[in-house]
Amino acid sequence: MAGETEAEPRIAVVGAGLIGRSWAIVFARAGFKVTLFDADAQALKAAKDWIAETTRALARYTLIPDPDAVCERVTLQDDLAAAVGDAVYVQECVPEELSIKRTLFAALDRLAPADAILASSTSGIVASTFTGDLAGAARCLVAHPVNPPYLVPLVEICPAPTTDPEAVARTRTLLEQAGQAPVVVRREVRGFLLNRLQGAVLNEALRLFEDGYASAEDIDRTMKYGLGLRWSFMGPFETIDLNAPGGLADYAARYGPLYETLGQEQADPRPWQHSTVQQLEAERRQHLAGDALTARQAWRDRRLMALAAHKQAQSDDSSN
Ligand SMILES: NC(=O)c1ccc[n+]([C@@H]2O[C@H](COP(=O)([O-])OP(=O)(O)OC[C@H]3O[C@@H](n4cnc5c(N)ncnc54)[C@H](O)[C@@H]3O)[C@@H](O)[C@H]2O)c1
Repeated sequence: MAGETEAEPRIAVVGAGLIGRSWAIVFARAGFKVTLFDADAQALKAAKDWIAETTRALARYTLIPDPDAVCERVTLQDDLAAAVGDAVYVQECVPEELSIKRTLFAALDRLAPADAILASSTSGIVASTFTGDLAGAARCLVAHPVNPPYLVPLVEICPAPTTDPEAVARTRTLLEQAGQAPVVVRREVRGFLLNRLQGAVLNEALRLFEDGYASAEDIDRTMKYGLGLRWSFMGPFETIDLNAPGGLADYAARYGPLYETLGQEQADPRPWQHSTVQQLEAERRQHLAGDALTARQAWRDRRLMALAAHKQAQSDDSSN
C-alpha cells in the first residue's frame, strides 16, 4: 500500500505468540499499520524483538526491502479496547481452546467497530462454535494461516453458516492486498482443506511404515524427490491434468481404477499406534539428534526463505 496517511486502514492482531507476531509481519510488510495486543506483557515485548530479528533475516533473502519500515508499522498495545477500537480487520491468534476463543470473540464483538471483520487463526475449531450466537456473527469467520505465514502464503477462509458472504469477499480482498494466497472453504469442515490433505498423506505414510514397506527416510524421500517437487508449484488436480495426453479425464480413465482399489485398501482407519510412533521417533533421532531440532528448524526456515525468494523472482508465473 503506497502513501500512508492517518486514515490508513489499521489491522489489529490479538495474541502475539508464534502466529500473531508472524501475522504482524505479513500485514506490516504490505504497508498496513498493525496494532499488536497480548494479554501477557512479556509476550508482547518478546514479539517486538522477534519481529525485528525476523524482518532482518527476510531482508537478507531480499524478501523485504526495508526491515525498519516494517517494524515501525507495528505498534504494541496492552489494552484490548484501544487495540481494536479503530481496526478494519482483527486477526485473533490466542491459544487453541474453545473457551478462550469464545470469551475473546464476545469481547471483540463489543469493542471493535461494527463493520470490522473478526477473523480467527484457529487450526481446527469451526467458527460457528465460538461466534454463532454473537450479535455480530455475520462479520466473524476463520482465516487459518500456515506457519510461518510470512513465508507460506496460503490462508484458508472458512465462514460459519451465520457469516455474511460480503465478509468473506472483503477478507479475501484484504488478504490478497497483504500478499497472501487465500482460498475459501465453502462450508465448515474439521481440519479445513490443508490439514485434511496433510492428514490423508500422514495416515498413509504411517500405514506404509507400520506394515514394513519402507523406512521412514525412504517415505520422506518419496515426497522430497518425487511428489513434493511438483507440489511446490501445482496441486493434485493440475498434476493429473498434465500427466495424460488428453488431460484430467484421460488420466481418470487410465488410472482411476487403480486409485479406487488403493482407496479401498486405505479406507480402514487406523489409530496412530504408540509402538509405531516410537519406532518412527527412533529412526528420526538416528538422523537428527533431539538437541539439533532447533537448528534444523532454523535451516528449514532458511530453505523456505530461499524458496520464497525464488518464487518471487518468477513473479510473472506467481498467479499460476
Ligand atoms: N503454531 C502453528 O503452527 C499454527 C498454525 C496455524 C494456526 N495456528 C493457530 O493460531 C492460534 C495461535 O497459536 P500460536 O501457535 O501462536 O500460540 P502461542 O501459544 O504461541 O500464542 C498465543 C498467545 O496468545 C496470548 N493470549 C492468551 N490468551 C489471550 C487472550 N485472552 N487475549 C490476548 N492474548 C492472549 C498468549 O499470551 C500467547 O502470547 C491458535 O488458534 C493456533 O491453532 C497455529
